[in-house]
Amino acid sequence: MNTPGVPPEDRARALDLARRLREHNLRYHVHDAPVISDAEYDRMMRELQALEEKCPALASPDSPTARVGAPPLDSFGEFHHDPPMRSLENAVAEGEIFAFEERAKRFLRQGGEEVEAFDLTCEPKLDGLAVEVIYRNGLFESGGTRGNGVAGEDVTPNLKTVRGVPLRLRAPEGGPAPPSYLAARGEVFMTLRGFERLNRDRLDAEEPPFANPRNAAAGSLRQLDSRITAARPLNAAFYAVGRVEGHAFPSQSNLLETLPKWGLPVSPAWRRCASPREAAAFYEELLAGREAAPYEQDGVVLKVDSMALQERLGATSRAPRWAIAYKFPPRQETTRVRDIVFQVGRTGAITPVALMEPARVGGVEVTRATLHNEDEMRRKDVRRGDRVLIQRAGDVIPEVVAVIREERPPDAAAVPMPEACPVCASPVERPEGEAVLRCPNPVCPAVVREGLRHFASRRAMDVDGLGDKLVNQLVDEGLVSEPADLFALSKERLASLERMGEKSAENLVEALEKAKRPPLARFIYALGVRHVGERVAEVLAGSFRDLEALSRADEEALTSTHEVGPKVAESVARFFSDARSKKMVENLLAAGVAPESPPEAAARDSGEGTLSGLSFVLTGTLPGRSRSEAKAAIEALGGRVSASVSKSTSFLVAGERPGSKMKRAESLGVPVLDEGAFEEMLARRERP
Ligand code: IVH
Repeated sequence: MNTPGVPPEDRARALDLARRLREHNLRYHVHDAPVISDAEYDRMMRELQALEEKCPALASPDSPTARVGAPPLDSFGEFHHDPPMRSLENAVAEGEIFAFEERAKRFLRQGGEEVEAFDLTCEPKLDGLAVEVIYRNGLFESGGTRGNGVAGEDVTPNLKTVRGVPLRLRAPEGGPAPPSYLAARGEVFMTLRGFERLNRDRLDAEEPPFANPRNAAAGSLRQLDSRITAARPLNAAFYAVGRVEGHAFPSQSNLLETLPKWGLPVSPAWRRCASPREAAAFYEELLAGREAAPYEQDGVVLKVDSMALQERLGATSRAPRWAIAYKFPPRQETTRVRDIVFQVGRTGAITPVALMEPARVGGVEVTRATLHNEDEMRRKDVRRGDRVLIQRAGDVIPEVVAVIREERPPDAAAVPMPEACPVCASPVERPEGEAVLRCPNPVCPAVVREGLRHFASRRAMDVDGLGDKLVNQLVDEGLVSEPADLFALSKERLASLERMGEKSAENLVEALEKAKRPPLARFIYALGVRHVGERVAEVLAGSFRDLEALSRADEEALTSTHEVGPKVAESVARFFSDARSKKMVENLLAAGVAPESPPEAAARDSGEGTLSGLSFVLTGTLPGRSRSEAKAAIEALGGRVSASVSKSTSFLVAGERPGSKMKRAESLGVPVLDEGAFEEMLARRERP
């Protein structure tokens, strides 16, 4: 098949990329066995996007690029479920699952059928948000949330961005072909890793973190702007079907075996059990592995395996008679707030923290919980002496869910926010429109300490052996007051510290030496620039490629970087023009720290030259290419295109009848390329 106007080599490349992206998606989400890195996946995705932008005829509706999100909606439409999506009865004790089996047998007996025993298929109960996705002739058509079971919200554009939701079903070799109509039902959820990363990014960006992975998944899927959903680490697992045409499943276990063959992920941990006794053993196994599991589970769902029996059992108005959820004990507990104290973070942000009577929550002892900020503390009205409900999700800092008002002692006291920094006593500031109180003192010992901890942490410079305690010691002893000081520490001086042996001192010096060549992204992250989390640091490193270029970039150049908003741009530009932070970076470089630029070759797997690090502005008409084609061509080679000329513009590309940008470029001394020079540069695929 030939597509008019599309160069055959582009078409071939696009088809190849789409095929490979689908394959890797399947490996990642259905087989849980990825073979390439996320960065490599993203790179292939970006290349396909650039090709489709250049030749829109290449973009089919089920292209892997359809996952980047669509323009925002004003509101969600309704999404009807046929048949309704029911809820589940709950069991909280083992006895209740034996009772469940008995009830089912009795019901069947009353219907005139004596059943001795039946298999129960047991699956983890995933803690996310239930959705239904419609496939017509194997193609993703639409999808919605469960809502009240009869109708939910139509979140089609959002579901399209979820990588675990295939955009087209596969026809397995020798297996059943996908049905002509399939309503697949399952859970959209977030892994704990994804959740923790998202929350870290949100905290770095000074946005409120999500309380738990379920809220994060629900909040992410129910976005009117699906581009936001696309940027969230959502997964999906399917466990049931609604209306199906052209196929029948004989049993639940068969359904769980068949869906993955069509490319629909199911939770890998399921088991067909011959009795409630076996089901109870499966429950115990999952419960024992709960702390180590990669995602939150809140119990086990037991389902009568045979679909024929399911049909005979039917449902009450609320829930099916053939299934029950055997819940895990909640990871929530109540305890008493002894005191509320204030913690000063790396950016000077002052956070209220509840100190509590020790409580065991899901097997871990908890004594502190964050109250996030003043607004949150007031909203929940947490007071010293209050009895509170606390919860934890994964490794996340526990938080206070709510106050148990009925048990408030008469002397429970609201704690006012401090007027002075609890560490250095500087008067605190609360910037307009922000929820956060701040210590404005850049040399506040708490700010310095937290900055160093962040700098040395695993996701930043990853200095092995430089933990929180040692950082405190180094600061307290006056040995270190900024990151560069770390690299001047001698083995002898370290060994003289209390609780520090020769060997540990030697190891630390070695670890610091090793940390001197960090990937640029980690170095940027380590600097602790406000609003720059890991993700943004990666984007900046990928786009500017060296520290020098990043430090010279103005707000405009920064904003024209994909994924960098005005808040981040302002903060980065301010950081690199601030005398103190400039000095801090200079000192690091002088101490021998040399961040490594991301490999050039990553921009193009051909290894050819690129335009990375260069920024272009287009003006006038280019006879050979439309504006968007020229833009795509530059971006495909790793260059950036901005809307207006500034001193950090590398080139102005001037076509016929150039506008005022030409004058501005001339006055700023920005080199101008005419059409010929531009085309030649693209053709050579080299830096000029
Ligand atoms: S089956 C008629 N299986 O639990 C059966 N539900 O409390 C309908 N859930 O709304 C659900 N994991 O959001 C089923 N393996 C699983 C599940 C599961 C999680 C959720 C689902 C449902 C809720 C019911």
